[in-house]
Amino acid sequence: VTKIFAVPRGTSDILPDAVPLWEEIESKARKICKSYGYKEIRTPVYEDINLFKRSLGQTSDVVNKQLLELASSREDEGYALRPEGTAAVVRSYIENSLDGKESLSKLFYLGPMFRGERPQKGRLRQFHQVGVEAIGPNSTSPLLDAEMMALAMQLLKELGVRDPKLRINSLGSKEDKATISTWLREEFAKHKNELCDECQARFERNVFRVLDCKKEGCRQLVVSLVKNLPLSAESQHYFNLVQSSLNSIGIVFEVSPHLVRGLDYYTHTVFEITAEGLGSQDAVGAGGRYNGLVHELGGSEKVDYGAIGFALGLERIILARSPGLSLPVGINAFVIAMKDEYQPQGFLLLQQLRNAGISAGMSFSGGSMKSQMGKADKAQARFALILGEDEMKTQMVAVKDMQLGTQESVTIKEIINFLKTKIES
Ligand code: HAM
Repeated sequence: VTKIFAVPRGTSDILPDAVPLWEEIESKARKICKSYGYKEIRTPVYEDINLFKRSLGQTSDVVNKQLLELASSREDEGYALRPEGTAAVVRSYIENSLDGKESLSKLFYLGPMFRGERPQKGRLRQFHQVGVEAIGPNSTSPLLDAEMMALAMQLLKELGVRDPKLRINSLGSKEDKATISTWLREEFAKHKNELCDECQARFERNVFRVLDCKKEGCRQLVVSLVKNLPLSAESQHYFNLVQSSLNSIGIVFEVSPHLVRGLDYYTHTVFEITAEGLGSQDAVGAGGRYNGLVHELGGSEKVDYGAIGFALGLERIILARSPGLSLPVGINAFVIAMKDEYQPQGFLLLQQLRNAGISAGMSFSGGSMKSQMGKADKAQARFALILGEDEMKTQMVAVKDMQLGTQESVTIKEIINFLKTKIES
């Protein structure tokens, strides 16, 4: 028997019927990002594996368990498919000296990301993100944090996600993170046996992750601790300003002291946006500040870089959209030649329509009026353009509105303008 191939586990085809929805999401996302002054950047889908190890953290789940490494025949090369976009954007920012071009680089990207996860609803091995990053010397401002979150919320709302919920937290500066991490270790050490198995491991690798453990036992230990995290006065002040900036533009949020992120590069503000209807994988997007990453990846030590960004998962946005919102996939016009000898004239009309930007189709195998009308229906054409005997004599086209069922005659000369006004109205 012949082997029937299937898509790799955790990936999927986006079939023609679904593509218009994706196109709409992508074009809306681009438009909204541009309206905030962001410009698109496109980086490769794979990078030096050490870029990810260095930026996301050796102990993060993404690096530890989920990197899809490319097999290479050469020993000096180690590449992995990108699990996210931030590391590559910072790599490109440094490599291309983008800081010399603008005081604040405002960048966005759209595209596939890859993580070797155990697939489930809303969790895939190849998924798509729209991501936004703002990086620049001396650019740390609570207003920028607020703007980022406003942009994320606007994207989600305009992409049809009902009632997205924003949660925010602060991890403090790099120094605060070190202090908090030591403090948490000391506190958890007193109750180590009460932690779940996974958190015992987290205790060693990344003690912050214990804070967002959902297990009851861990949760109880954590509840009183999170209220007393040793955040410096300066970091707390910055976080207060972020909150008042959000309030001033009417962005609703909840401060969640349990919110930590799975990637190492975050400092100060972190945030996550959840939506209904997604099951256990309910984060439609997440992000935060990563001021230290430019230095970590080799940016000039003399400059004080600020950086913040987020990414939204497009598959999860589609899952969280109001159901029943499908888009028309049809064409504008379907040309029908009633006799085979009218086909050359039909073919010419077809190309004229396409050249004028009117999407059009035609059956090259001809057939009866009934069968060609059936094909026009299948192609979800708005208009059927019929060339019959009378029409050929008078150089007219019979234009049938496929939804209303009405029909009228238009001269071949006029047909393009006629259709254009109809389509635009
Ligand atoms: P992340 O939280 O790892 O952050 O991913 C962001 C979003 O991508 C998630 O909220 C989710 O919607 C989607 N996502 C992640 N993994 C999967 C998956 N396996 N299947 C489907 N969707 C998924 C980042 O990637 C950071 N780079 C965000 C960022 C940008 N931080 C600063 N700048």
